[in-house]
Amino acid sequence: MEATAKAHTNIALIKYWGKRDEELFLPMNNSLSITLDQFYTITSVQFCECLTADKFYLNETLATDDETKKISELLDLIRKLSGVKMFAVVDSLNKVPTAAGFASSASGFAALAAAATKAIGMDIDEQTLSTIARRGSGSACRSIYGGYVEWQKGELLDGTDSYAEQVLHEKEWDLTILSVLLEPKEKKILSREGMRRSVETSPFYQGWLETVDEDLEVAKQAINERNFEMLGEVLERNAMKMHATTLGANPPFMYWQSATFDVMEKVQELRESGFRAYFTIDAGPNVKVLCQPKDEEYVRGALMALTPVQDVYTCHPGPGISYLPHTKRKTCC
Ligand code: DP6
Repeated sequence: MEATAKAHTNIALIKYWGKRDEELFLPMNNSLSITLDQFYTITSVQFCECLTADKFYLNETLATDDETKKISELLDLIRKLSGVKMFAVVDSLNKVPTAAGFASSASGFAALAAAATKAIGMDIDEQTLSTIARRGSGSACRSIYGGYVEWQKGELLDGTDSYAEQVLHEKEWDLTILSVLLEPKEKKILSREGMRRSVETSPFYQGWLETVDEDLEVAKQAINERNFEMLGEVLERNAMKMHATTLGANPPFMYWQSATFDVMEKVQELRESGFRAYFTIDAGPNVKVLCQPKDEEYVRGALMALTPVQDVYTCHPGPGISYLPHTKRKTCC
């Protein structure tokens, strides 16, 4: 009863920001992302009678109790759905610079959901797999698919209609996503806490909700028409609105640090000098800059020249879930 799966991270162009049900990870709004080719997680899961609890290794090291608890919660759901009661040994390798503040929860929970459901013998389609990955971390439901992906918020109370779908295959439109790594400074407010506080206290949250569907429609039209400028303008606008909700929260908070502004200003300058480049920012200080492949070398060079920039990773649209031959590096009994 073992399987290995690989899942890539994704970056939201239209953000998931706010939950209508925290326990089931049901979002307030639809969101849209690109799955990235460079950052991924490979996870092996083996269920075995010999285990008396789940065991979780992250990057070759036995994980802490807190980290293992999150994994066990998703495994509990999979055990419940399958009727199998065995515990599992989970071995995850993250090819995501997590220490540097890049989120790995999307690829991590997508890979775990895929490997664990396969190992336990469930025969499910990708849509159902997406609803399961969602229960580990909302954005993980988008990492089941490659390319351009929309997460339908759904209407049902049980969340069975809240899953992701591919909008466009990764090979059908190439874009460059430059992941700009800054030196992490302040302690992070996790996205989970940040979105809760914004929903509950920010007067700007209503403005977010009232306009996000329109942003999504514009983004989908831009993708259909392969209109980079239209996509860039709406994704930047949407990111700014998400961050505006944090400024209106009580107590207010902000994910940006001074270096974040340096990158935002540089992107604006690049645009003024004729390069089409646009930024987006998630629940942290790092910035992702989108540009066209023909401009990627120049734009990367301009970003690398900024003093607070530690590195810039060049990404393109990447694939969805894949299953690998099982690699048994950690044994249970
Ligand atoms: C700002 O998926 O990390 O990156 O569902 O609470 O685990 P939980 O949150 P998570 O939130 C991602 C928020 C975001 C926007 C996005 O990815 O859509």
